[in-house]
Amino acid sequence: MKLNIALIKGDGIGPEIVDSATKVLNKVLEKYNHKVVYTELLAGGCAIDEFGIPLPQSTIDGALRSDSVLLGAVGGPKWDTLPGHLRPERALLGLRKELGLYANIRPVRLFSALKDRCPLRNVDSFDIVIVRELTGGMYFGKSGRTIGENGEEAYDTETYSVMEIERIGRTAFEYARKRRKKVTSVDKANVLESSRLWREVMHRLAKEYRDIEYGDMLVDNAAMQLIRNPLQFDVIVTSNMFGDILSDEASQLTGSIGLLPSASLGGCKRGLYEPIHGSAPDIMGKGIANPIATILSAAMMLSYSFNLDKEAKEIEDAVEAVLNQGYLTADLGGNMTTDEITEKILEQI
Ligand code: IPM
Ligand code: MG
Repeated sequence: MKLNIALIKGDGIGPEIVDSATKVLNKVLEKYNHKVVYTELLAGGCAIDEFGIPLPQSTIDGALRSDSVLLGAVGGPKWDTLPGHLRPERALLGLRKELGLYANIRPVRLFSALKDRCPLRNVDSFDIVIVRELTGGMYFGKSGRTIGENGEEAYDTETYSVMEIERIGRTAFEYARKRRKKVTSVDKANVLESSRLWREVMHRLAKEYRDIEYGDMLVDNAAMQLIRNPLQFDVIVTSNMFGDILSDEASQLTGSIGLLPSASLGGCKRGLYEPIHGSAPDIMGKGIANPIATILSAAMMLSYSFNLDKEAKEIEDAVEAVLNQGYLTADLGGNMTTDEITEKILEQI
C-alpha cells in the first residue's frame, strides 16, 4: 500500500515528537512493504510567523489532498497576546472543522507497567475511551462582545442540533460494540437546554442499541467518578467542551498526559491524529519530550485510516514492551531522552 501522509509538526515540542513518530512509522511500514510519502504543512504559530495567519488555505488544501494527517502540537507564549481569531489554536479548530472531523476518539488506558504512576490507590489497570464531539458546541457557537447595562460583556454559546448529537452518539455506540458494550453519556441536563436535547437523542439511540448498557451522568459527577472508580467506564460520550476537560483529567490517571493519543474522524477515512497534550514550550528543544502519545497517534492512523491493524498493533506492542522494560522519559520520572526512547521502540519492531 502507498500512504500519502500530511505532517503538521507545529510549534514547541511538535517537530521533535513528530520526527520520532515518523521514524517509527517508517520502520513498521518498511517491514510490511508499504510505501509512504510525507508532505509537510504549516499550521499554528509557525504559520503565523511565515504567512501572518494560523491556518493558510494551502495547509487546508494539502490536508485535503492527503490520505491522513499527523499533527504535533500548536501554540506558545510568543503568540499568546494575539487576538482570538489569530491565535495558533485557531488552526486546530479550523482543521477539525474544514476536514469535517466531528468525532474525537481519546483512548485512556493505564499500562500495567505504569500502575505505580497512577495517583489512585489499588488501581492496577483501566481502559476507557472518551468520544468527544469535536465540531460543535461552545467551541463553534456564537460568541462575541457587547455593551450591556453594566458595561462590556462577553458571551459564548453552546448549540447542538439533533443531527450533531446523533452522529457522535452513533460513533460511541458502534465503538462500544467492539469493546465492553457500555456507554456513559456525560451532560449537564439539570441546567443546560442543549444538554437536555443531548440526553433525549442519546436515549433514542440507546433504544436502537439494545445490546449496549447505557447510562447518563452529569458532568460534575463524572469528574468525580473518574477519580473515584475509573473502572466503571468503558466508552464515555460527551460534548466538545466537557470532553476537553474530562480527557485532561483522565490522562493524569495514566501517569502522564505524554502517553495519550487521539484520532479525529469524520465521514471518510481521512483523519487527524495528534497527541492530546500541547506544545510544552517549557521543554522545547531540550530533547526530553515524551514522544509516545504521538507514536500511538500514528498507530491509530494506521488502523483507522488505512485498516493496517497488524502494523498498528506492532507499534502499540513495541511501546508497551519498552515501558515494561522500565524505560521512561522525564514526565514519568525516568531519564530517557526523546531519541533514546524512540530508539528503544524502534528496536522492538
Ligand atoms: C485539545 C486542546 C485543544 C482543544 C486546544 C489547543 C484548542 O486542548 O485538543 O484538547 O481545546 O480542543
Ligand atoms: Mg484539551
